[in-house]
Amino acid sequence: ARPRRMVVRAEAVNPDIRKDETKVVDSVLVTELSKPLTPYCRCWRSGTFPLCDGSHVKHNKATGDNVGPLLLKK
Ligand code: FES
Repeated sequence: ARPRRMVVRAEAVNPDIRKDETKVVDSVLVTELSKPLTPYCRCWRSGTFPLCDGSHVKHNKATGDNVGPLLLKK
């Protein structure tokens, strides 16, 4: 079987998070995580960025994408 080809358009990944910043960078001290498992957003759609709020589910359904959070474990 031939591999499926995808057409990828060049566009911004971040639709509206902290657009006043030149580069959005966050850091986390893993030793200070409050919960044993903390999900961090990688889809750039979370209303609680940089934390995941589950918005990736809606994004994936709407676009066919497959993005999900980065899970930090304490
Ligand atoms: Fe962005 Fe979950 S909301 S990865």
